[in-house]
Amino acid sequence: MENFTYKNPTKLIFGKGQLEHLKTEIPAYGKKVLLVYGGGSIKKNGLYDRVLSQLSEINAEVFELSGVEPNPRISTVRKGVEICKEQGIDFILAVGGGSVIDCTKAIAAGSKYDGDPWDIVIKKASVQNALPFGTVLTLAATGSEMNSGSVITNWETQEKYGWGSPLTFPQFSILDPENTFTVPRDQTIYGIVDMMSHVFEQYFHQPTNAPLQDRFCESLLRTVIETAPKLLENLESYEHRETILYSGTIALNGYLQMGYRGDWATHNIEHSVSAVYDIPHAGGLAILFPNWMKHVLPVNVDRFKQMAIRVFDVNPAGKTNEEAALEGIDRLREFWRSLGAPSRLAEYDIDDSKIETMADKAMVYGEFGNFKKLNREDVLAILRASL
Ligand code: NZQ
Ligand code: ZN
Repeated sequence: MENFTYKNPTKLIFGKGQLEHLKTEIPAYGKKVLLVYGGGSIKKNGLYDRVLSQLSEINAEVFELSGVEPNPRISTVRKGVEICKEQGIDFILAVGGGSVIDCTKAIAAGSKYDGDPWDIVIKKASVQNALPFGTVLTLAATGSEMNSGSVITNWETQEKYGWGSPLTFPQFSILDPENTFTVPRDQTIYGIVDMMSHVFEQYFHQPTNAPLQDRFCESLLRTVIETAPKLLENLESYEHRETILYSGTIALNGYLQMGYRGDWATHNIEHSVSAVYDIPHAGGLAILFPNWMKHVLPVNVDRFKQMAIRVFDVNPAGKTNEEAALEGIDRLREFWRSLGAPSRLAEYDIDDSKIETMADKAMVYGEFGNFKKLNREDVLAILRASL
């Protein structure tokens, strides 16, 4: 293993009826609360009213920023920063999925910065301070509820970048599986693909002694593979929502990645695709990931064979290592397709006309990926295979 330090300061409050904790968690930070949410799902399912009722019980002075878009935009972050600075906000409460939480992280850091918050996203400025914030998660996918990362899009320049700081962990996150009952089928599928992709980004690392971490990753993947079809049969199953919600958090709260460095190349390529085409993050991942796997397979066939056997129950008898490994990748593609996830960019009407632009955007910080360093030609090959 590589040396590591692990600290995750987010208080995780998980289970039925946990919204009540807002009343005990928020007062320590002050009275002025900025409530951040998305396009209205929380109003339709009643969560908005329940949150407001909790906030009124503690006499919070509530300000609102609504309309955070999926793939949250810097223009919305700027609006939030303006409210925080003008009103002297003490605490931000994000109620929503990864997009609302990521936007909140950028508002929290941007509110304590004198310039344009985009400087923070492009790492021109480092985060020196941030407003405290908490989350009520409504969609199992990104892990943003228990990590310090955030992904923000600049639609004017068609750029989408991830950034993060030790100062942008949520103070607390409330995860009640019932708050995810109304997540539509397509978003439920995307969430499942996203959390599995997060595990793959970590599982494919350079050889290092991490047998326990491997098995953590494999058991998380097996659990999600077993649960996902059952959840899609019954979107209001508390039991299956609960399993998926917990899996999504563990997949990206830093826990799996102790002792080695993950890859993260596929996420980088996907961010370039969704910066140009505004497609759902995990729709892009479902298309790209198996093609990344095939592209980098020669780097370490044994690792892919291990995944094939341990995660997808591939029988290696009579097969070469490469055949067994490829069968695992094909089973992954088949599994995602069976859930209803896309497998080609054409399904989003994306052709090869902007493929060079997407590759340029992916290369903006130079070669990337830790399992295999990808150059521009690699990126183009993966994108072409995905058309
Ligand atoms: O906006 P509303 O009306 O709330 O509707 C949302 C949105 O349309 C809806 N939704 C959320 N909870 C719901 C619900 N609808 C009904 N009932 C509920 N309970 O779902 C739609 C998608 O929401 P969004 O927040 O965009 O989804 P997700 O959580 O998948 O977040 C995606 C964003 O996170 C970034 C992605 O790039 C993308 O911008 N990521 C963030 C990461 C992180 N911070 O660690 C890591 C990820 O890899 C990812 O890149
Ligand atoms: Zn992701």
